[in-house]
This record gives sequence, C-alpha cells and structure tokens, in this order.
Amino acid sequence: MSGSLNPTALMRLLGEWNRGAAPAYRELADVVRLLILDGRVPLEMALPSERALAATLGVSRTTVTAAYASLREQGFLSSRQGSRGRTGIPRHLPAGANGPGGTTDLTNPETLTGAPGLAAPPGLIDLAYASLPASGEVVHRAFAAALTELPALLPGFGYDAVGIPPLREAIAAQYSAAGVPTNADQILVTAGAQHALNIVLRTLAGRQDKVLVDHPTYPHALDAIRASGCRPVAVALPQGHGWDIAGMESAMMQQRPKMAYVVPDFHNPTGRLMSDPERRRLVQAAAAAGTVLVVDETLRQLNLDAVVTSPLAAFSPAVVTIGSLSKSHWAGLRTGWIRAGRSLIQRFAAARTTMDLGGPVVEQLVAAHLVRSLSEPLPARLAALRENRAALLELLDRILPDWQPERPDGGLSVWCRLPAPMSTALTVIGPDLGIRLAAGPRFGVGGAFEHYLRVPFTLPPAQLETAVLALSAAQARLDAAPQLRRTLRHPPAVAIA
Ligand SMILES: Cc1ncc(COP(=O)(O)O)c(C=O)c1O
Repeated sequence: MSGSLNPTALMRLLGEWNRGAAPAYRELADVVRLLILDGRVPLEMALPSERALAATLGVSRTTVTAAYASLREQGFLSSRQGSRGRTGIPRHLPAGANGPGGTTDLTNPETLTGAPGLAAPPGLIDLAYASLPASGEVVHRAFAAALTELPALLPGFGYDAVGIPPLREAIAAQYSAAGVPTNADQILVTAGAQHALNIVLRTLAGRQDKVLVDHPTYPHALDAIRASGCRPVAVALPQGHGWDIAGMESAMMQQRPKMAYVVPDFHNPTGRLMSDPERRRLVQAAAAAGTVLVVDETLRQLNLDAVVTSPLAAFSPAVVTIGSLSKSHWAGLRTGWIRAGRSLIQRFAAARTTMDLGGPVVEQLVAAHLVRSLSEPLPARLAALRENRAALLELLDRILPDWQPERPDGGLSVWCRLPAPMSTALTVIGPDLGIRLAAGPRFGVGGAFEHYLRVPFTLPPAQLETAVLALSAAQARLDAAPQLRRTLRHPPAVAIA
C-alpha cells in the first residue's frame, strides 16, 4: 500500500499523544511508531510535511523535525531526498516480521489487532480472536428448518428494517423470561453487535460527543466510537476485580458523556462479571448525569461459574441493550439485536436505513429457531470452555510464572499482566514463533496496556500448551534482546479518569 496521510488524519490517530512525560518530540515519535507497528498507519505512507504537521498539532516545527529524525534513525521512516518520508519497518526486526515471504504482514492491521476479517495464515495458532467455531449441529438443524419456512415469506418484498416478526418475538420472549418484560416492538434485529453499536452511536451521539467506556474494553467498540467522531472517556477497571463505580459516577457528573458503553457480562478482555449492587449504582449514576447507558451483552451466555445476575435493563427502562448470537452460537450468523424503548427503536430503525435496509431473511429465520432454544448448545460449550480456562490458567502458572493472569468469571479470555511492557513486541515477533496475538494497547486509549496481553481460551488444552510455550519462547527472545523490546514499545500508560 502507498499513499499519503494528511495532518488532520494523523492528528486524529495520534489522540492524546502529548502527555508531558517526556520531551514532546520523543512522545510524538513513540506514538507514530506504535501506529505504524499497530497497522493503523500503513507501510509506505507518506507522512505530512513537518510544517503542516507542526501547524496542525500546534507544536513547534523543531518538535516535528526531531520526531521525524528519531523515526528515521530507528528505521520507521524512509529518508528519500526531495520527497516526504514514507513509513517503514526497521531491518533489525525479527526475520520475516515484514516483507515478501515473511509470516507477519505488518501492513495488515489484522496482524496486530485481531480484527475480524482474516483468519491467521495456516500453521499459526490464532490467539488474536476470542471466538468459537459454530455449535455446528444446532446451527445446521436451524438452517434446515428455516429453509422449510422460507416459501411462506417469498411473496413479500423481503425488506424489513426492524427484523422479521418471529425473530423479534423470540428475542423479546427471552428478555421477558430473564425478568425484563419486553415486547417485540422493543427489538431491532441487526447484523451483529458491532452493527448494533454503530446504529446506536449514529443515532445518539454526534461528533465531539463524549462516550464513557470501561478501560480496557472491546477494541472494535473503541474503533466505532472514534470513527463516529466521538471522544472516548476511559474509566479504568480496578486491579483484580469489579468496576470502579465511584470513578464512573464522577466521570459522568464531571464530563457529562452522551453515552456510556459498558460490557458488564463477562467483559472483553477481562472476563469480569458486574455484581447486582454495582449494576444498580451504575444505572442511577447514568440517570443522574443524563447519560444513555448502552450495555453490550454479547458474552452474557458464557457464564462459566453459573453466577446469577440481573440484566442491566432490569434496573431501568432507559438502558439500551445490545445482544448477539456470535458467542453463544456462531459469529458467521452475523445476527444481533438492540433492545430499547419503542420510540428509540424507531429512531434506530431510521438511522439503520442509512447503512442497510434490513437483514437477510433466511438468517433471521435461523436465528429465530436458535433464540427460541437459546440454551440448547450451551452446556457442551460451557463445559469445554471451563476445561480450557482451567488448562490455560495452569499452563500460565507453570510456564510463565512471572505473568499475572486474572481469573475470568466467564467469557473467552484471560487478561494477563506481563512482567514488562512488552505486549506490542510479543505481538510483532509472535508469528515467527507460530502464534498470532492482539497487542494490549488495542484494548485501550492513549497507549495504555503495553503491560497486558489478552489470551483467549477458545482452543483445546493441547493447542493452548503449544501457544503458551510459544509465548514463553517469545518472551525469552525479548529477554535476550532488550533493545527490541524498547524499540517496539508503546508510550507508558497514563491514568485516565
Ligand atoms: C464485547 C463484544 N461486543 C461485540 C462483539 C462483536 O460481536 P458481533 O460478532 O455480534 O458483531 C464482540 C466480539 O468479540 C465482543 O466481544
């Protein structure tokens, strides 16, 4: 890929780069370097001229000149006479880290982010995804049943911006059974939870609006928030367990975010479950601040320890809930939904038609079958996940004793504190050792979480063992070449309200 990056686009990607923790040129160079490693700035991109970037960032030209010089020195910026420097990867990175024939394509954002889209190349163990294969038999059976029902719908136009009635009714019935009385007209069917979040953002939040998020949080939620021009307000999860509800209360009162996006049910990446008292306080805080609470329940079914909590919507009719079949059944279904008050659902439907005009009918018929017997595939799925979780925690304890994994209440991943800030470095050299990872900073804003790595337990124990041994080999390689770790380091994390 080649092209050029304009100063405003780079400024947006840089975020809050200037924290005053080091000389400004170094902070600027550090963040640009991470953006290149992270794939957010592709290779072979011409960076803005020094003058233009200095003017856009409101810093002196000397700062930008020194930052570019440092990037050139480290091999992240080419220095062609008479033309703007283009982004690149230094030669001293591990063999195959980039370029033709290499295993790690750093021009591809998926490499470092674990973004859905491409599977890992054959032979690589994929720890960038936290997702499971389909509950095959159950899904297949639902497709067979859906095909027999299809002829009855063929005389219609096939467009339906809110979703077909049987599916909306099935989803509403599940909420009612879970203690949240719901009518079908409170449900909008979407192409998954990510689509749902985009619809909610487009409807409820405008450019420059603040959106409160857990920190860390699901990377593609952060992407959607940024892409809609909103500003994430990150409230750190406390060390160990639970949510900092007092911190969320004060962030809401002081910053008055338009929306709060939270994942209280087996939070991605930590796997935490929010307690009922925390839920109650959070709902009250949002109401007091006039903030719309948007709850992502994508992982709610993955309740490994069978702890009973109430859905957040049980505490207030103002809560907007996002759900999905991606983790309970299969991401390939691309089916999710939004539950909200009737009039909001109408506004969401209007916003949705700017993106698409409805979901595919067969998939919705399938989803209706799956939702009606939502729990059917879960016992086998949860039993396998429990076994994998135990295996991964044991392997980490035995093979990487200086890592500090947090035991997840549920979900699909373990969030590990690393002995050193080396998440990006591990991610970059991972493919050479047979593993694909998602770097910790993808789960945060402003460069946080270089000290953390998310390790999914979606693979069976034997593969997890191979993966943990590969992580250990990657760590040993970094220990033997500390300069590599320094070069591939994101700026230190800062505390964010
Ligand atoms: C918290 C969370 N929200 C949303 C998604 C995306 O879900 P979907 O496949 O339904 O778009 C994921 C997938 O990993 C997730 O973990």
